[in-house]
Amino acid sequence: MSKNITALSGRKGLDNSLFEQLGQAAGKTGTPDTKSLEELAKSFLIGTANTYGAATFYDYLKPENQGKQIYICNGSACLNAGTQKGVRESLLRHFPEHAIGEMCCLGRCHENAAFHFNNHNYSGQAIRHLSEIIAQGTVLKDQYQVTSIGQAILTTPDFTVGECKAKLVRLLQMEVTEVLAAILQSGLRGRGGAGFPVGQKLKFCQQAQAATKFVICNADEGDPGAYSDRYLLEAQTNRLLLGMLIAGYAAGAQTGVLYIRAEYPESIVAVEQAITSFKEAGITGSSLLGSSFAFDFKLVQARGAYICGEETALINSIEGQRPEVRVRPPYPAQYGLFGLPTVVNNVETLASLPTAIMDGGHSYAASGTKASPGTKLMSLDGHFSQPGLYEVEMGTPLQSVIDRAGGFRVPVKALHIGGPLGGLVPLNQVTRLTVDFESFAQAGFLLGHASVLGIPESMPLIRYLADLFRFAAHESCGKCFPCRLGTKRAEELFTRAADQGEAIDRQLLDDLLFTLETGSLCAHGGGIPLPVRNALQYFPGELNPYFTHSMEETNVAPN
Ligand SMILES: Cc1cc2nc3c(=O)[nH]c(=O)nc-3n(C[C@H](O)[C@H](O)[C@H](O)COP(=O)(O)O)c2cc1C
Ligand code: SF4
Repeated sequence: MSKNITALSGRKGLDNSLFEQLGQAAGKTGTPDTKSLEELAKSFLIGTANTYGAATFYDYLKPENQGKQIYICNGSACLNAGTQKGVRESLLRHFPEHAIGEMCCLGRCHENAAFHFNNHNYSGQAIRHLSEIIAQGTVLKDQYQVTSIGQAILTTPDFTVGECKAKLVRLLQMEVTEVLAAILQSGLRGRGGAGFPVGQKLKFCQQAQAATKFVICNADEGDPGAYSDRYLLEAQTNRLLLGMLIAGYAAGAQTGVLYIRAEYPESIVAVEQAITSFKEAGITGSSLLGSSFAFDFKLVQARGAYICGEETALINSIEGQRPEVRVRPPYPAQYGLFGLPTVVNNVETLASLPTAIMDGGHSYAASGTKASPGTKLMSLDGHFSQPGLYEVEMGTPLQSVIDRAGGFRVPVKALHIGGPLGGLVPLNQVTRLTVDFESFAQAGFLLGHASVLGIPESMPLIRYLADLFRFAAHESCGKCFPCRLGTKRAEELFTRAADQGEAIDRQLLDDLLFTLETGSLCAHGGGIPLPVRNALQYFPGELNPYFTHSMEETNVAPN
C-alpha cells in the first residue's frame, strides 16, 4: 500500500476516482492506451508506473482484453458440468477466436453453459438462441429455486421503499449506542467468509476519531459457485440499501460504497435503480428525514479481479492503486478508504442487518445456533436436482439441504463448499456436518460464503486440483512470494500430473502446502491448501497413483 497514492487519490474523492477514470479510459477498446495512462498519472500527480500497474492488473482493463466481444464463463461449476466446450464451439461460429474472452464466474452456476455478451449474462439453453441474441439483443432471464429451511429472512419478499422509509424513521429515533447494542446482541457474524462479529467492527469504526467515514458493501462475490450475493443485489436490493443505512448510522459514516463485480451487469442495473428510488423517496442525502444524519450511496463497478473481494485489496482498488492486499494492522476500521475509518461488510451481512436489529437483537440471537445465529444463504450448483438459493437456518444438518434439493442429477463424489479456499467434503462426511461456522471448522472444512459445488464421479480430482491452482495462481495479487510463486509451482505440478501423468513428489508438495499456509499474507495463499489436504485425506485411492514419496520419477496414466 502506498500512503502517498492513498492521499493523492483521496484529494479527488470518490466521484472523481482514478479507478473509474481508468475504466472510462478503457472505453470501447477494452484497455486504456498509453496516452490516457500518462494523462491520468499527471492529473493525479502520480507516476505512469502506478496507472500502468493498476490497469494491467484487471482482467477487463489489461491489454489482453482488447477487442474481446464475448466472454465464456470458466468458473468451476461450468467446468465441472462440462458445458463450456460446446459453448465455445457455438461462439466460434460467430466470433473469431481472438474476440472470445473468459470471465470467472458469471454466477449462473445453477444452469451452467454461461457466457456474457453486450453487458448481459446468459446460461442454460440460451446458447441455442445465440444468433437471435447477437442479431436482436434478445435478453433471456435465468431461473432458479429460491426457498428456505427453517426461519426465512432473506428469502421473504423484499421491503418496499415505503417500508424502508418507515423503518428508517424508527431507526433515527434510536441513539447510536442503542443501535450498536442491538447489533452486538443479535450476534450477527460476517457472511463473506471469516464470520467476524459485525457489531464489533461497527463499534471500532464508530469509536475512531474522524469527520469522514465509509461503509463499503463488498459485492465482489468472486467464489466460483457462489451467487447468493447476486440474488440479494437483484432481488433484495432495498433490504440491502437499508442495511447499509443502518451500518452507516451505527458507524458514523456518511457514504455507502457498493463495489459490484463487472461480471454481474444485471446486479449493477438493479442497484442503480434502487438508489434512484431511495433518492426520490428522500431517504438519502443530508439531514435525512429531518435528522442530523447524512448518507449517500456510491456505486463502483469492479473490473475483474478475484482478490478485490479481500477487503484491503478492495480498498486499494477503489483508490485506483494496484489491488494488492494491505498488511494489517492498521485495520480498515481505523485506516481504510483514503486513509479514513471504513467498515467493509459482505452483501448478505448488510442485508441481514434490518432483521438483526429488531427487538433489540434478541429474536435474531435466538435463531440458528448460539455461536452462529441467524440464517445462511447457500447457492447450490447444477449438479443438484433442484439447484438454486437455499436460505438455511444455522444448525440445520447439511444432509437436510441435500435432501430438500432432491439429491443429485448425476453421481457426485464430493462437494466443494465455501469457494476455492473452502473444504472439499466427501459425501460420506456430509452427515457429520451442520450448516454453521463451528461444525465445519471442527470437522476440518470451512463454511465460508457457503457456495456448494458438486464434483461429479466423472471429474478426476487431479484435474480439479490443477484447475483450482490455475485459478489461485491467476488471481494471486503477487504481494507475498509464498503465494505468488507457490500457487504457480503447484499449478505446474498438478497440470503435468493430469496432462502427462508426471508423478508429484509428495514431500515437495507437503512443503509447498506448509509454506503457503504459514507464509502467506492473506487467506488466498493461506487457504488454498485446505481443499488439497481434504482431497489427499479422503481420496487416497484415486490420488495416490499420482504421487511418489521419493525423488524417483514414475508415470501414471494421464487424464
Ligand atoms: C482471497 C479472498 C477473497 C475474498 N472475497 C470476498 C468476496 O468476494 N466477498 C466478500 O464479502 N468477502 C470476501 N472476502 C472476505 C473479505 O476480506 C472480508 O472479510 C469481508 O468482506 C468482510 O465482510 P463480512 O464481515 O461481512 O463477512 C475475501 C477474502 C479473501 C482472503
Ligand atoms: S497470499 Fe497471495 S493474494 Fe494474499 S497477499 Fe499474498 S500474494 Fe497476495
